[in-house]
Formats: sequence, structure tokens, C-alpha cells
Amino acid sequence: MEDTTKLNTSKLGTKEYWDEFYALEKKNFEHNPQDTGECWFEDNGAEAKMVQFLEEHVGIHRISLECSMVDLGTGNGHLLFELLENGFHGDMLGIDYSSQSVEFATKVAQEKDYNVQFSAADIFDANWNPGKYDLVLDKGTLDAIALSGLKTDNGRSLVESYSKVVEKLLLEDGVFLITSCNFTESELIKILQTDNLKSWDRITYPSFSFGGVQGSAICSIAFVKQN
Ligand SMILES: C[S@@+](CC[C@H](N)C(=O)[O-])C[C@H]1O[C@@H](n2cnc3c(N)ncnc32)[C@H](O)[C@@H]1O
Repeated sequence: MEDTTKLNTSKLGTKEYWDEFYALEKKNFEHNPQDTGECWFEDNGAEAKMVQFLEEHVGIHRISLECSMVDLGTGNGHLLFELLENGFHGDMLGIDYSSQSVEFATKVAQEKDYNVQFSAADIFDANWNPGKYDLVLDKGTLDAIALSGLKTDNGRSLVESYSKVVEKLLLEDGVFLITSCNFTESELIKILQTDNLKSWDRITYPSFSFGGVQGSAICSIAFVKQN
């Protein structure tokens, strides 16, 4: 049976693509400050659902309004801004390997006077150590990473190495919330679950039935770090 966790490569898996993408979003914002860029998976209401999920789970594991969080592949930082606007006020860090993304998100944060930090880094860089967080977020980033077809120095695909990155960043009992359109729930669990990172909960989306198989266009899963 075909291993569906291995996707074909695409330009969406390249840093050049995202640099161009966010340079354009930055330019649009300079012309129109209302235009803070594309909200990934907006059609599915994913961002609002991720915020709602976290609000509804305050007090469980390490989720609190004060919890520290890092958003991997933050893009225009929209998810962190949305969380801030909904009462989350812990340390917030957005990471992206595109310097254009970081410049753009920083610019938006400054204009809105939002206390959110952005920093440029490749999350697979072994020398990148930004500390540990209560919450790690991913909206569409593993999807983009899967399209890169890249491998780490030890020959493992970036997708296979991703859970190690997440584990490194999470405090014990910390939560990792990921939304993907490229992987199904069971594929995400297969890729990401380890002895220390356990699937915990999920967000439900409207589902469709095709060829006798039930599915949804998008999925979000929460994992908890255990030691
Ligand atoms: C599909 S976009 C999603 C952006 C954002 N999370 C959102 O929801 O709008 C994927 C993002 O991941 C970033 N990215 C991809 N590979 C990365 C890596 N190895 N390290 C850091 N960022 C990466 C890209 O630059 C891009 O901003």
C-alpha cells in the first residue's frame, strides 16, 4: 500500500517561494495597513477553531492565558495576533526561516503595538535553541515542510524529524497543536506520535464522504509532551 505520508515536492517547500510571498504581503501592507496578509486555511475557519480550542482548554495541561508559546513557520504572524486579541498574553514567539516573513510580521506587530516577538531561524538547525514553551503551534508549516523533500544530515526526512523539534521546544505537559491540510488525522499521529509526544485531542471540522470513505479537508490534532 502506498505510503501517503510521503508527498511530492513543490515550490511551496522552498524558502525562495516564501520570501517572495511575504515580500509581496509586506508591500501590500505598506500600501494598505488593513491588509495584514493571507490567513492560511481561512475557508475552513482553522485559525478561529485553534483559538477556540485553546480557550476551551484553559487550565488543562499547560494551557493558560499566560502560557508561553512558539508558532513554528509563523508566516505573517496572524495566529499569534489572533490569540493576543483573544486574551492570551504570555510570551509569544513566531519563528520562520523566511526573513521577509519575520520583517513583515514584526512590522505588523509594531504598527498594532502588539507584544509579540518574531525571529528568523530554520527550525531544523540543531544550533537553534530558543528555550522551552508551554505551547507549540503549527498551522500549515508541516505541510510546507513535507513539500520540500529535504533530509537532515542523518538522512531522515524533515517530516520524520519534526517531532524531535517539537519535543525539544516543549516543557513537560506542554501542548502541541497542529493544523494540516496535507495529512489525515491518522497520518499526523503516525508521523508525530512518539513515546514522549502523545496524541491527546482533536478539533472537528465538517466531514464529507467520498467512495465510502469519511474525511475532512483539514485536521487539527493536539499532542501532549510526557516524560
Ligand atoms: C503554509 S505557510 C503557513 C504560515 C502560517 N503558519 C500561517 O498559518 O499563515 C508555511 C510557513 O512555514 C515556513 N517554513 C517552512 N519551512 C520552515 C523551516 N524549516 N523553518 C522555519 N520556517 C519554515 C514558511 O516560510 C512559511 O511561512
